Amino acid sequence: MEPLLPTTKHRRGRRTARQERALADPGPALLTVNALTDGLSDGRPVVLDIGFGTGEAVVAQARADPDTVILGVDMHTPGIGDLLASIHELDLTNVWIIDDDVRNVLEHIPTGRLTGVRTYFPDPWPKKRHHRRRLVTADFARAVAHRTRLGGFWHLATDWVEYAEHINDTVGACSEWRGGIVGKPHDRPTTKYERRGIAAGRTATDLWFERINP
Ligand SMILES: C[S@@+](CC[C@H](N)C(=O)[O-])C[C@H]1O[C@@H](n2cnc3c(N)ncnc32)[C@H](O)[C@@H]1O
Repeated sequence: MEPLLPTTKHRRGRRTARQERALADPGPALLTVNALTDGLSDGRPVVLDIGFGTGEAVVAQARADPDTVILGVDMHTPGIGDLLASIHELDLTNVWIIDDDVRNVLEHIPTGRLTGVRTYFPDPWPKKRHHRRRLVTADFARAVAHRTRLGGFWHLATDWVEYAEHINDTVGACSEWRGGIVGKPHDRPTTKYERRGIAAGRTATDLWFERINP
């Protein structure tokens, strides 16, 4: 398999006072990869959220299912500040954050350890010459599959029809996954990013895949 080389630089951006406060004192939710290895050695179910943005979906889904840990991976510092602030304000103990490119983090997750994976509104890179920057490729789909237990899920959503078709074709062609386009599951919250797409006249497509035996 090709190495999953990072193509996206860390983006720092401007921060609000709430974000700054949370980033200055992140507490135990912000993990290093070494701490992740320790955390993953306990038996709690873990769902990976790839590119959580401001963390709205992570917060709602962590509150709805306190027995499952949500491991959020993103590298946009203001969004990490938002999610840390929500974790502090709501006293959430089942959310972990890693500030890194998910392609680096996957290497630290043991085979079959994840119960499921969520990727809501991955950066669409709509221009054809930028398609190679898209996160969801065949190699990425296989790398995610190897960390997901048999019977586990990968739920994706995008508001770019052509990216949805690409995901459907690429993940659908991967022997480790079975599934495709579905209606919006009731437990997927609507995020700021999705609301922006709706305001611009786009609609979301959800895709649901089950991890099967290759
Ligand atoms: C369009 S936003 C969507 C955010 C959120 N999931 C939502 O639905 O509102 C995409 C997010 O993915 C993150 N991202 C992009 N590439 C990534 C990568 N390789 N590893 C981790 N996060 C990534 C970006 O920083 C950004 O926060």
